[in-house]
Amino acid sequence: MSLDGHIALITGAGQGIGRACAVTFASKGANLVLFDKNPETLSKVAHEVGEMGRKVMSDVLDLTNLERLQEVARKARKIGLIDILVNNAGFDRPGTTAKIEKKGFEEVLSIHVTVPLTLIQMFLPGMRAAGWGRIINVSSVYGITGGKGEVAYSTAKAGIIGLTKSVAKECGQDGVTVNAVLPGLTRTPTIETSMAERYKKTIIANTPLGRMAEPEEVANVIAFLASDEASFITGIALPVSGGWAV
Ligand SMILES: NC(=O)c1ccc[n+]([C@@H]2O[C@H](COP(=O)([O-])OP(=O)(O)OC[C@H]3O[C@@H](n4cnc5c(N)ncnc54)[C@H](O)[C@@H]3O)[C@@H](O)[C@H]2O)c1
Repeated sequence: MSLDGHIALITGAGQGIGRACAVTFASKGANLVLFDKNPETLSKVAHEVGEMGRKVMSDVLDLTNLERLQEVARKARKIGLIDILVNNAGFDRPGTTAKIEKKGFEEVLSIHVTVPLTLIQMFLPGMRAAGWGRIINVSSVYGITGGKGEVAYSTAKAGIIGLTKSVAKECGQDGVTVNAVLPGLTRTPTIETSMAERYKKTIIANTPLGRMAEPEEVANVIAFLASDEASFITGIALPVSGGWAV
């Protein structure tokens, strides 16, 4: 499975699943454009994939600043045809319907739905013109199950599935596939530091494979969907959850 000759844009590439995607894609020959808001982690990852012999452009930005996002995306377009887009960056603002504040709700919708839409609008025309492209959106099992106390996150993760399926229908004739992956519990820095142990134990108890995923296990599936081998797969929402919620 090779990604040689392709340029992949990965959001949230500084750590976790995004970092694993950067390293996995680099190992398969892709050159990379990496976005993250954290300058320290992003420069480490950019250095790491540069050492692997890949060309890499990285930009530090808050993706939810849409004007800045468009400006940086326009700059990225100048380096060549970006024909793989991985919409991965995300964050959570937990809360029930009673407690969630509108500001937090909208921030979560912005990073998980509006930012991916904006990047799709910026890069899909180039992919369609080239007759080949891959868009992979990182959703969550919560996008299909909902999550107690996760009203914003679950709504946003369902939204990105709808966006995935709609864009897939628009551009299939042009050789562009659009898919979503739905990770289950994955061992990323945010999960390690922010999620209560008892909550993790409950999810693992309900996961047939009996453990959480390593970020690379999710990145491998994303790399497959980005490859020529996945040429007849589009519009799917694929759980990578160890059997949790399927
Ligand atoms: N880890 C899990 O268990 C899990 C489960 C299901 C879905 N997901 C989804 O997978 C994706 C990656 O998750 P993760 O656990 O690796 O996350 P993470 O928090 O470990 O890393 C997210 C990265 O995105 C960056 N980022 C966040 N907001 C940004 C912004 N506004 N602008 C620029 N960069 C920003 C962060 O700086 C960070 O580097 C997310 O969309 C998340 O919702 C994760």
